[in-house]
Amino acid sequence: MERTLCILKPSAIERSLVGEVVKRIEQKGITICGMKMMQLDEKILREHYSHLVERPFFPMLVESMTISPVIVMCLEGKDVVEVFRGMTGATNGRKAVPGTIRGDFSMSGQQNIVHASDSVENAEIEIARFFKPDELFDYTPGMLKFLYAEDEI
Ligand code: PPS
Repeated sequence: MERTLCILKPSAIERSLVGEVVKRIEQKGITICGMKMMQLDEKILREHYSHLVERPFFPMLVESMTISPVIVMCLEGKDVVEVFRGMTGATNGRKAVPGTIRGDFSMSGQQNIVHASDSVENAEIEIARFFKPDELFDYTPGMLKFLYAEDEI
């Protein structure tokens, strides 16, 4: 099964949207195989957003991601990188379609509630950045056979 990284950003924590986002993940049938609260700092954000370090908004991005703790989650499921990106919607909440997490809860490109890995390759790198191996759990949810056909697993 594929894995992806989700970060519940300070905008989710401060606006008490953690339960709402987790509910959507669970209801979709995505498995949570790692979850913890942590305080990010500029060092890890320079790694995580290395492609954005030179952008003028980078200092604001750091400020917004360090203003409170975040919750990081490792999510598992078939094609979960693409599936969860679809659930989050466009980066800018004003452009994200209703029904997506950002489309329903965000009016901003910065305060956009969640981060989701954008490729399988980046997901592996990002999960290793935020989780130690013993913080991830391999288990088979009992309801798996009600989530997938046998030949999809
Ligand atoms: S881009 O602009 O397409 O190269 O960047 P993208 O890969 O979509 O990721 C942008 C991430 O930076 C966060 N961020 C902002 N983006 C645009 N403008 C401003 N001002 C800004 N501030 C922060 C944005 O939320 C994206 O974060 P993630 O965690 O990837 O969703």
